[in-house]
Amino acid sequence: MAPNYSLVLLLLQILYNGVFVFSIQEFGSNSVEPLAVLESTPNLSETLNAIADILNDSLPEFNYNKVIMKAEEFYATLPKSILNEATMLVPELVRTHGYPCETHKMKTSDGYILTMHRIPHGQDESKGTKDRPVVYLQHGLLSSSADWLIPGPEKGIGYILADAGYDVWLPNARGNTYSRNHVSLDPDGDEFWNFSWHEIALNDVTVMIDYALSKTKQENLYYIGHSQGTTVFYVLCSEKPEYNEKIRVHISLAPIAYMSHMTSPLLQIVATGGRGLQLLADVSGVGEFMPNTGFLGKVGNVLCSEDSVTQVLCTNAMFAVCGFNQKQMNATLLPIIMGHSPAGSSIMQVMHYVQEIKSGKFRQYDYGLIGNNRHYDNTSPPRYLLHKVTAPVYLFYSRNDWVSAESDVLRLYRELGNVQERILIEDGKFNHVDYLYAIDARELVYDKVITRLKAH
Ligand SMILES: *[C@@H]1O[C@H](CO)[C@@H](O)[C@H](O)[C@H]1NC(C)=O
Ligand SMILES: *[C@@H]1O[C@H](CO)[C@@H](O)[C@H](O)[C@H]1NC(C)=O
Ligand SMILES: *[C@@H]1O[C@H](CO)[C@@H](O)[C@H](O)[C@H]1NC(C)=O
Ligand SMILES: *[C@@H]1O[C@H](CO)[C@@H](O)[C@H](O)[C@H]1NC(C)=O
Repeated sequence: MAPNYSLVLLLLQILYNGVFVFSIQEFGSNSVEPLAVLESTPNLSETLNAIADILNDSLPEFNYNKVIMKAEEFYATLPKSILNEATMLVPELVRTHGYPCETHKMKTSDGYILTMHRIPHGQDESKGTKDRPVVYLQHGLLSSSADWLIPGPEKGIGYILADAGYDVWLPNARGNTYSRNHVSLDPDGDEFWNFSWHEIALNDVTVMIDYALSKTKQENLYYIGHSQGTTVFYVLCSEKPEYNEKIRVHISLAPIAYMSHMTSPLLQIVATGGRGLQLLADVSGVGEFMPNTGFLGKVGNVLCSEDSVTQVLCTNAMFAVCGFNQKQMNATLLPIIMGHSPAGSSIMQVMHYVQEIKSGKFRQYDYGLIGNNRHYDNTSPPRYLLHKVTAPVYLFYSRNDWVSAESDVLRLYRELGNVQERILIEDGKFNHVDYLYAIDARELVYDKVITRLKAH
């Protein structure tokens, strides 16, 4: 029997001011008004009953019993190959599907040791020229090179590009599963996590782009970014404009520069309250952001440890932040997604985004008055100058993206130096993670991306 995925609610659990706040949000809705907010002490049976009452009141057609389906039953419905894929590292995952995969290591100027994966060609090696153009795919927050491969051949953009004749490079930013190494710092210590996406852009992306270009003896590459993968592109090309020359075309999937109109309820609460996230950070606000074991995991115990199917959704920060689009979500992929995400990010990366939401500005990390004076010799952080981004840019965005809001994308569009086109996804429900996993992503996004690459 196929599991019933008629879940209409996303339960967001936030450890907030020391009490548990459950905000209940309709899937696919971009309204920030929670349907209900329940404050309670973490008593499992009381909490579940209270939630059930709210669900019963606000959505009479909601079948609470169907939601509480055991995770084991759900997993039992899946082919074994899927569960294997959930535990495979990227090179093995790629080779399982009959594609070649290389692993490359490189060191940054500040001592981080990074890993890039490469799919040098598609299943049919004779297809395409010898000098295949390089495509560089930069993942988002809490993610890794696996992002581009989850749906498998024919559906995952990493495979589609390799089969279309491109040389596919899959970088991993510092801190994630594949780039948790440093010449002297230990990822178990806070010092290792003393970076935001500013450092990822200037210290990691630079090294990884230069590495791919020098290995392939090419002069420029196609850069495709998702979410934070677009942020670091904008930081890089405005702070080090010489990199514009190395970018043949940039494709932004769910662009993130300005964030003042984002509608993610979780981010909103973190941004307006702030305390929730501060509870995570030690005094210095530096460390690893660990939503599974620390943040959502702690509260996840209340609802999610009941082995319900909601467990797979509600313990994952990505879905809690980005929402869940039932129509485009292939439930079979959930274990693979869960197996590869979250892949590791710093608290400072999240805090830097929270600062964007509050300030409405796209600028460097805000260390506070004293810290800013020390870092920037100014009371506020310097802004990123978007007009300096002169590489050709295409913006793909959607109306139901909780994180990359249309009005913020339009502001970015107006300020960039060389935008070729903005492309609104023709699916009103398309959301932030649909760019990676959606059932129709190929038709709605990837085919259009390849058309744009071919035009340059
Ligand atoms: C939770 O609440 C129920 C109902 O009020 C009560 O019977 C139970 O003892 C409580 N559990 C804990 C761990 O406090
Ligand atoms: C929801 O309402 C229905 C009908 O009123 C009732 O039978 C059911 O027990 C309620 N469910 C919960 C969990 O309270
Ligand atoms: C983080 O780096 C800054 C310099 O950029 C330094 O002033 C600060 O002490 C560091 N903090 C930690 C916890 O390592
Ligand atoms: C869902 O994913 C599985 C595993 O990759 C695949 O076999 C299946 O065709 C996918 N379903 C749809 C509707 O894309």
